[in-house]
Amino acid sequence: MSTSKYILSLDQGTTSSRAIIFNHQGTIVSMAQREFTQYFPNDGWVEHDPMEIWSSQLTVAEEALKEANLQASDIAAMGITNQRETTLVWDKETGVPVYNAIVWQDRRTDTYCDRLRGRGLENLIRNKTGLLIDPYFSASKIRWILEQDTEIRTKAEQGQLLFGTVDSWLIWKLTGKQQHVTDVTNASRTLLFNIHDLEWDESLLDIFEVPSQMLPKVHSCSEHLGEVNCQSSLDGIPITGVAGDQQAALFGQLCIRKGMVKNTYGTGCFLVMNTGDKPIISNHKLLSTVAWKIGDQVQYALEGSVFMGGAVVQWIRDELDLISDAAEIEALALQVADNGGVYFVPALTGLGAPHWDHYARGIIIGLTRGTNKGHIARAALESICFQSLEVMKAMVADSSIYPKVMRVDGGAVVNNLLMQTQADLLEVPVVRPKILETTALGAAYLAGLAVGFWKDITELEKNAQQERIFRPSMSEEERNKLVQLWTKAVGRCKDWIP
Ligand code: G3P
Repeated sequence: MSTSKYILSLDQGTTSSRAIIFNHQGTIVSMAQREFTQYFPNDGWVEHDPMEIWSSQLTVAEEALKEANLQASDIAAMGITNQRETTLVWDKETGVPVYNAIVWQDRRTDTYCDRLRGRGLENLIRNKTGLLIDPYFSASKIRWILEQDTEIRTKAEQGQLLFGTVDSWLIWKLTGKQQHVTDVTNASRTLLFNIHDLEWDESLLDIFEVPSQMLPKVHSCSEHLGEVNCQSSLDGIPITGVAGDQQAALFGQLCIRKGMVKNTYGTGCFLVMNTGDKPIISNHKLLSTVAWKIGDQVQYALEGSVFMGGAVVQWIRDELDLISDAAEIEALALQVADNGGVYFVPALTGLGAPHWDHYARGIIIGLTRGTNKGHIARAALESICFQSLEVMKAMVADSSIYPKVMRVDGGAVVNNLLMQTQADLLEVPVVRPKILETTALGAAYLAGLAVGFWKDITELEKNAQQERIFRPSMSEEERNKLVQLWTKAVGRCKDWIP
């Protein structure tokens, strides 16, 4: 395989579709991005238009190719990474979705999930899937769509409808309706997939009343899945890499050995630890998930998600008007020497891992006459680090591994104060790589390995470059004091909604 070619990576995220072209050194050659519409038809509901997901993704991929002045024949392979769990159902003949995509953040199936928990199914489901019973995952969303109309269910049972996460939908569209497939990482987020056997599980399909005819065929993350054939400038490019975005970021960060951890600071924070070739079923409400499968080698991971990460800064900007641009938060927080005793628990949509408390709500506590906006800004940044610390502690408790470093990526990691605070609270160096687009890079690596563009993982390791390491520098006494007060503040906001 000529190393003078390129890899095209599609990164279909929750708020935007992106396409990035990488060269053999793993350097970005061109990039295009497009935001798309978010629909909130009811309280707690979040939807996307599947056609807009598709058209925005295709447009940016063509733009990236054009910007780099390349043609399909210059691209050795395409990798796809995506927002996970988001659920689509469409007609196999017409290609028309029967409903909007129900996004991972959507809570419409809360009561149904409560009912399943009430039936005592939690252990069975956790042992098979590594997940909790929660609306976050795809299964209850599929069921909801099928329940809307008896005709929809009948068609699904007759094999006329297809289910897919966003990767499946894109591959089906890209290959001109030829391939209805997914990969093990996306499948492992549906609540229908047995992460030990790596197969769809009949008993889970029964529980969630999902006909098996709808399901995509599950592949590894790095193999030939078909070629683009959708009357676009991309036609002919082989699709050879797929992984859900958090797993792709883990791979892009080259967390390839047991105990290696990455944290992505996006809207939320996603901490993922490689746990080697066996899943660890968590006792601390973390998720066990498939990290990737390459050839017949499977790696597993522990994952904890924090709902409000960078979104805290957006909230400070949009709702409190303390800053006009997210980047200003660092300077505002640096106007004060410390948090002045102020703690902000941003449970604005409940608390994620390791609490999973949907009834928690946010608080800012410790206010005095001397409190100013700098303290609030500082408390907001610290809240991101405290929440990540809580997840990391749960990971250590589950795995008995204390990671040597934490690798970071995502939009918010340009904030040096945030990174230093994270290192101080974790007592672990925080490593920021040169290429922050690790999600797209991970998908590119998976695609490139499949076609021999990169020989093996050792070759990928030569590409890895650190931009900066933040080393812990806080005294133990200071850290303990901060963590103690944070924990007290969390206790105050839990179970708030009656
Ligand atoms: O599990 C949801 C996650 O995959 C979404 O990631 O980056 O699109 O917010 P992102």
